[in-house]
Amino acid sequence: MTPPASSPGGLEGVVAGASAKSRVFGQDGRLFYCGYPVEALAEEGTFEECIYLLWNGELPNEEQLAAFNEELSARAEVSKPIWDVLRPLVEGQSIMGLLRTGVSAMSAFDPDVEATRDAASGRAELERSIALRVQARVATIVAGAARLKQGDEPIAPRSDLSFAGNFLFMLNGEEPSPEEERIFDAALTLHADHGFNASTFSARVTAATEADMYAAVTSAIGTLGGRLHGGANMRVMRMLQEIGEVDQAEAYVDKILSQPKGRVMGFGHRVYKVEDPRATVLRRMAKDLTDATGHTKWFEMSQRIEARVRENKGIFPNVDFYSASVYGSLNIDPNIFTPIFAVSRVSGWLAHIMEQHADNRLIRPRADYIGHDERAYPALADR
Ligand code: CMC
Repeated sequence: MTPPASSPGGLEGVVAGASAKSRVFGQDGRLFYCGYPVEALAEEGTFEECIYLLWNGELPNEEQLAAFNEELSARAEVSKPIWDVLRPLVEGQSIMGLLRTGVSAMSAFDPDVEATRDAASGRAELERSIALRVQARVATIVAGAARLKQGDEPIAPRSDLSFAGNFLFMLNGEEPSPEEERIFDAALTLHADHGFNASTFSARVTAATEADMYAAVTSAIGTLGGRLHGGANMRVMRMLQEIGEVDQAEAYVDKILSQPKGRVMGFGHRVYKVEDPRATVLRRMAKDLTDATGHTKWFEMSQRIEARVRENKGIFPNVDFYSASVYGSLNIDPNIFTPIFAVSRVSGWLAHIMEQHADNRLIRPRADYIGHDERAYPALADR
């Protein structure tokens, strides 16, 4: 049913609260984390610096960064009981589903979670240590779940590698090249936070009921998986695979756009009315990777899809479009694309949960009621 004018569909344009984490300029195509342009953070910093920034509001100095890296990597191991919960589910569950269950199960083994359920003093410190565990272990669960799905065993994390390098090592069983690690690290930074996007908002709604951090992150994982949100990136790769040949790109786009409500995955955005700045960086990275490997097919196809969609619909690629060719060029299975989004975005979710809890008020909007007026209850026999 079409909502009345007083209620914009999908809360479009509604400012639902305050946050100091990220700032999105939809008309200019700019994105800042705590005041820093995302392009600079992705190209000059590391993902660990980005997490620290989102959680603390400031970039770390060398000493702080070294201590933070150590704190994170020391917590990356996922214990046997969690793998035992996941193993029987592997066949019937996607990696996102395994991650959702794994994060939910982790709460049962966290000694700090009970104490954070009320807003007593000391909660901020406890939540910070939970955040470190969740951030580190989400990566281990995703890489391990991806391996279990292929019939392989999870690989234990290594504390001598960067966050990005360790993730690729746990996934593939071998260390990435410095270039692969750099590009993957930048992709993680680009996906880390984005205002009140749907999954972050659901994390905040859950956190605002004073539910614990695991409950809030579990909500967010469920929300990220949908195809209109993080689930788009794997569908972009499937689209490229379905198109098959570069010269078929335009015909495919025309076919999709001729269908009622046809959607080309990886295009359009609720906030950006120009190009998503993350897509600009990812396009450049996809180009560099394909130039280096000589496998130009996905990139060329993506460029032709982009030109056709822009020409016919006047809409632009979003973060999910070129991240698909970046991950594809890194030989990552498309089923892991959305879980990788979670490996990054969990840093933003955790930042928002801590921000919400620091100054909490229940998030509880009203609905525009559009149903029947009052009517008399008829007996069952009279209906
Ligand atoms: N393909 C074709 N047409 C589109 C697309 C698309 N991907 N996106 C928007 N449009 C058209 C839509 O048909 C409509 O045009 P018209 O008024 O002529 O029918 C107009 O653009 C506005 O679209 P909307 O659906 O009202 O926009 P929205 O703000 O409700 O939805 C969106 C935003 C991202 C869900 C939507 O653009 C979409 O479905 N995109 C494809 C899925 C996708 O790539 N999702 C990733 C989002 S960004 C990163 C993330 O959050 O994960």
